[in-house]
Order: sequence, then C-alpha cells, then structure tokens
Amino acid sequence: MKFSSITPLLAAAAASAAPLDPVIRPMVPIDVFNVTGFQAYSVPHSSWSYTRFNISVTTISPATLCSAETLSYQHVGDITQTNCTEPSISFNLTRTSDNGAKLDIFWILAEPGLLQGTYLIPGDQFVNSGVATSVHEDYIGSKSFSISNLTLVHSIWGN
Ligand SMILES: *[C@@H]1O[C@H](CO)[C@@H](O)[C@H](O)[C@H]1NC(C)=O
Ligand SMILES: *[C@@H]1O[C@H](CO)[C@@H](O)[C@H](O)[C@H]1NC(C)=O
Ligand SMILES: *[C@@H]1O[C@H](CO)[C@@H](O)[C@H](O)[C@H]1NC(C)=O
Ligand SMILES: *[C@@H]1O[C@H](CO)[C@@H](O)[C@H](O)[C@H]1NC(C)=O
Ligand SMILES: *[C@@H]1O[C@H](CO)[C@@H](O)[C@H](O)[C@H]1NC(C)=O
Repeated sequence: MKFSSITPLLAAAAASAAPLDPVIRPMVPIDVFNVTGFQAYSVPHSSWSYTRFNISVTTISPATLCSAETLSYQHVGDITQTNCTEPSISFNLTRTSDNGAKLDIFWILAEPGLLQGTYLIPGDQFVNSGVATSVHEDYIGSKSFSISNLTLVHSIWGN
C-alpha cells in the first residue's frame, strides 16, 4: 500500500481514537520503516540465537531498539512476537523454506489499528560456518534496509 492510501486511514484511526488514546500519532506520511544495525546470528557451542535491530517508523520519532533471543541450536530461530523498547512497536521473525526469513514489524497506531511491515530476507543472506558443535549461522546481508510493504491490519493482540 502506498502512503497516499495509508495517510487517510492513519488520520481516521488517530482521529477516532483521540479522546481515549493518550498516544496521539503524528500525521506525517508513512510509506516506509527504516531498519539500521540489523543482526541475526547463532552462537557457536550455544543453544541461543539473537536478532536485534533499530527501527524508525516515522521521520519525527526516534528509532527504537528491537531485540530477542531464542533457543535455537546452530541456526537463527523463529522469534514469536516480541515488543521493542517502544512497546507500540513489536516484531517477529519467521524462517522460510528457502533458508531465508520473513521479518514482520507491527506498529499499533491506535487500537485496534495496526500497521504491519513485511520484509523478506533471501536465503543467500544467511550463511553457515564452523564444524561439528561449532556450526553456527550468521546473517550477512545489509545492516540497513527499508521496509516499504506496509499493510493496515487489525490488532493481533486480541481485542
Ligand atoms: C540502536 O539505537 C540505540 C539507541 O539509540 C543506539 O545506542 C545503538 O547504537 C543503535 N544500534 C545500532 C546497531 O544502530
Ligand atoms: C528512511 O530513510 C530515507 C532515506 O534515508 C529517508 O528519506 C526517510 O525519511 C526515512 N524514513 C524514516 C521513517 O525513517
Ligand atoms: C509473525 O506474524 C505473522 C503475521 O501475523 C504470522 O503469519 C507469522 O506466523 C508470525 N511468525 C511467528 C514466528 O510467530
Ligand atoms: C507489549 O506491548 C503491548 C502494548 O503496546 C502491551 O499491551 C503488552 O503487555 C506488551 N507485552 C509485554 C510482554 O510487555
Ligand atoms: C507484503 O506483506 C504481506 C503481509 O503483510 C504479504 O502477504 C505479501 O506477500 C507481501 N508482499 C510482498 C510483495 O512482499
């Protein structure tokens, strides 16, 4: 969805929620989420994998840190929905059958409105190294990227 269609929906959501929602969202065009410092890796001889990144969802709000660790031996594991430092923003990570991953970002604009950004990481951006018990997986793609596939959906927190 392009921002020309997101903007009126966002304005409507913010306006209808204004009396109840103390967090009034800025009415600026929203056409992209920007990710910086993206890392995803598993640790040799460990059962844990880590994913973390900063994300900015508007040009006027500061970036927020999103981070999760998950039990996953030798490879970067799926992450269930996890709040970022700014709790209106959350994310999950779903490994795909091509050895890649789907990163979903969820931003609560005003209950129950949710803007979901989806980014597909191709399988060749994850590599394995090490031998035997030191085998581990690293994301080697760009640390910074933009997510422009934004879709307005209902809250998935359950309402
Ligand atoms: C993420 O943001 C935090 C807080 O602003 C900052 O300290 C950190 O350096 C950033 N990390 C990356 C990898 O961009
Ligand atoms: C994303 O990055 C682009 C290019 O640097 C910039 O023009 C845009 O304002 C940024 N948007 C957000 C939401 O950070
Ligand atoms: C992440 O969220 C999407 C959209 O709701 C869902 O399809 C996917 O199964 C979720 N992945 C995980 C690992 O929970
Ligand atoms: C995540 O944030 C939502 C609201 O943004 C809140 O309702 C929920 O309790 C938070 N979950 C955790 C585990 O902190
Ligand atoms: C955009 O994201 C939606 C889920 O939010 C997904 O169903 C769709 O396939 C994605 N489109 C592209 C081009 O990646």
